[in-house]
Amino acid sequence: MSDLVLLRNIQNPEAPEVAVYESTGGYEGLRNVLRGYTPDQVVEAVKSSSLRGRGGAGFPTGLKWSFVPKDSGKPHYLCCNADEGEPGTFKDRILMERDPHQLIEGMVIAAYAIGANTAYLYIRGEYGLSIRRCEQAIAEAYAKGYLGKDILGSGFDLDIHIHKGAGAYICGEETALLESIEGKRGQPKLKPPFPAVAGLYECPTVVNNVETLACLPHLFRRGVEWFTSMGPKDGPGPKLFCFSGHVKKPGVYEAPMGLPLGEMLEVYGGGALSGRFKAAIPGGVSAPMFPENGFDVKMDFSSLAEAGSMLGSAGVIGLDESASIPRVARRITEFFSHESCGKCTPCREGLTWAAKILRRIEAGEGSPGDVEQLEMLCGSIFGKSFCALGDGAAWSLGAALKHFRHEFEALIPAQAQPVQEMRLW
Ligand SMILES: Cc1cc2nc3c(=O)[nH]c(=O)nc-3n(C[C@H](O)[C@H](O)[C@H](O)COP(=O)(O)O)c2cc1C
Ligand code: SF4
Repeated sequence: MSDLVLLRNIQNPEAPEVAVYESTGGYEGLRNVLRGYTPDQVVEAVKSSSLRGRGGAGFPTGLKWSFVPKDSGKPHYLCCNADEGEPGTFKDRILMERDPHQLIEGMVIAAYAIGANTAYLYIRGEYGLSIRRCEQAIAEAYAKGYLGKDILGSGFDLDIHIHKGAGAYICGEETALLESIEGKRGQPKLKPPFPAVAGLYECPTVVNNVETLACLPHLFRRGVEWFTSMGPKDGPGPKLFCFSGHVKKPGVYEAPMGLPLGEMLEVYGGGALSGRFKAAIPGGVSAPMFPENGFDVKMDFSSLAEAGSMLGSAGVIGLDESASIPRVARRITEFFSHESCGKCTPCREGLTWAAKILRRIEAGEGSPGDVEQLEMLCGSIFGKSFCALGDGAAWSLGAALKHFRHEFEALIPAQAQPVQEMRLW
């Protein structure tokens, strides 16, 4: 039997059909939950499993659920974050396209735990096939009694609505996502209050990533002990990694957490496209890169955090010797600058300015002091932005400057250039 958990049905083109999903143990976890657990017991089990969110921040899932008040007197909501905008990340897409019932089952379990009778599945609008497959799976789940009124005779009701995103990266940020569902402009909101207390329509709301929710059917079918036996103690369970960039075998792989980055790039990524790797980004472009001499870092939540980066969305991007790090940094910074929602000054102005300096360095028109100027900008953005978009942008640019300063400096002529435009417009 394959060791795969989340991707166990991936090779079966019929897997999106409910009967095929059921034949591989599908909806058994939900049956176990509805027969044997109170909502509080589900929350406790998820806490004991030490499951951590797969969307980026790695927040403990059971703990997040436990913040939902029991006596709010308001409706509760579950929102599944399937916006998947982080460059280098395409794992949620595979889960929705190839095995959508796994996600739907996870959503029903989570909604039961937090007392939600309405759930939203916020899918990136470009993911046409994901949307169609999830629509189909939701229709089948209603027909089979896994959704709707009195699910499996338990007395628990749940409706799931799909909401299509319209292409803004910031709408993956949980409070912006909730604003977007409400039909407002997708901009982050001040926290606290956290969504668990005042989220969608100011009601208690849990936002979880697709992969996080897809872990739940397995957790409740095979048990907490099985779950915690997989990977690091402080964040175990099955895990997907996306490999892209200069790797020979790009794709989504299910792999144990805790393997060294360099080993994963070889074993799963298939090695460098040309020559050797010079650097790699471990968790989507918000995660600071490692130079090759940092490739022994273990790919799990804590080890990456201790090494000054993060597992993030587990989008691993390999950069081989052909890569120009200033070009990579320019491209990433332009992305963040373009996607900045404009709400706060450090991110809106700082990233525009940083992208401009990076463009002129790359064009050979930089001036001595430009690298210091970029470092100053990173310091002005990181920790001073309203949401994690600004932090991630500055954090990743800072790492490129720290590890590959010589590449930036090599592009800057020794002589000061004729006065460069230092204004933003
Ligand atoms: C700019 C930005 C974009 C984000 N995009 C996503 C996304 O596409 N998908 C996602 O699950 N989380 C994304 N997140 C993280 C969410 O805010 C949130 O932490 C996550 O959905 C919670 O789910 P989890 O606890 O299951 O990880 C993003 C965060 C930021 C700051
Ligand atoms: S950090 Fe950037 S994306 Fe986040 S609120 Fe500020 S301007 Fe908007």
